[in-house]
Amino acid sequence: MILLGIESTAHTASVGVVDESTRVLGLSSDMYRPPTGGIHPREAANHHVESLPGLVRAAMEEAGVRPNEVSAVAFAQGPGLGPCLRAGATVARTLALLWGRPLVPVNHCVAHIEIARALSGLEDPMLLYASGGNTQVIVYGAGRYRVLGETLDIGVGNFLDKLWIALGGSFPGGPAIEAEALRGTQLLTLPYAVHGMDVTFSGMLTAALALHRAGASRADLAYSVEVTAYSMLTEITERALAHRHRAEVVLGGGVACNERLRGMVRSMVEARGGVYFAPPRKLCVDNGAMVAWTGLLAHRAGVSIEVERSAVNPRQRTDQVPADWRQSSDGHPHRATSDARTRGDRAPP
Ligand code: ATP
Ligand code: FE2
Repeated sequence: MILLGIESTAHTASVGVVDESTRVLGLSSDMYRPPTGGIHPREAANHHVESLPGLVRAAMEEAGVRPNEVSAVAFAQGPGLGPCLRAGATVARTLALLWGRPLVPVNHCVAHIEIARALSGLEDPMLLYASGGNTQVIVYGAGRYRVLGETLDIGVGNFLDKLWIALGGSFPGGPAIEAEALRGTQLLTLPYAVHGMDVTFSGMLTAALALHRAGASRADLAYSVEVTAYSMLTEITERALAHRHRAEVVLGGGVACNERLRGMVRSMVEARGGVYFAPPRKLCVDNGAMVAWTGLLAHRAGVSIEVERSAVNPRQRTDQVPADWRQSSDGHPHRATSDARTRGDRAPP
């Protein structure tokens, strides 16, 4: 079985082609980089509209796959920026109709999780999903991915991006801060905001900007922000592991590219005698292969959606969609229809 997946939720337009053994046969991506400031949804969507047709062609060519070999077309239904989501959904609907193949809706967060889980080879790990818009500690339970802890304000990646842009840099901030942090020598005191298994970042953003105005160097700020933010994420992950009596952690999302975060989580997990895994960087950031892979899992479990009902959902949460392809740890399958997915119904308590 071969699936084509389209990612367009925010800054990156990407098309991936995968097979049942999680092999990425083709992957073609193009990131929208605003000349100044943050991402404007309409401008990013225009970028996606222009780049997606070429990306589809490039991914199919790299994969050496013809349309009649594609079993279904998956797209990221949400969460994300409305205009960007609609750009990808429109291309996916067009291909599904043109090729006469089912259309499969995929949750973007679940896609980050599933590609990381598949590559880890671990059946049921705990997941730290750290990206631009999301920061969540997740386990699977009773038919869905459950969020044990998360950011109560902005995602850690958005925090890094906002800070870097305010310091005079450009999007994306995370990789630039990682490079700058290597030159930092002084650990500045910043708000360490852990609330149980939740975190917040806006206080740290305000404090970091105040320190900058008071003369702190970009290098020291980058270093201090990384150490503080990633310690917070490591702490909530450890707390979740301890409470759930778990030992395996898989990282996902764009911020999981970060060497310092990888190292901190790895040391924590290994000190507990557990198992740690992080995917290669190109599969941590937004990419079509994760959508294709999750679409393949969903398609195999019988999920598809009619074109007429395939509206995007900019606010669709990780824990709002059924993970039909997984079974609960008590061994009971939890089937749910794609209706539940389109209605975006809430997880039971
Ligand atoms: P979400 O998955 O929550 O919808 P997103 O799709 O916008 O967010 P991803 O592509 O998953 O984001 O991740 C992008 C984020 O990752 C950006 O905020 C970027 O700054 C951050 N990032 C990328 N590389 C690194 C790095 N090396 N260190 C820290 N952050 C990074
Ligand atoms: Fe993402």
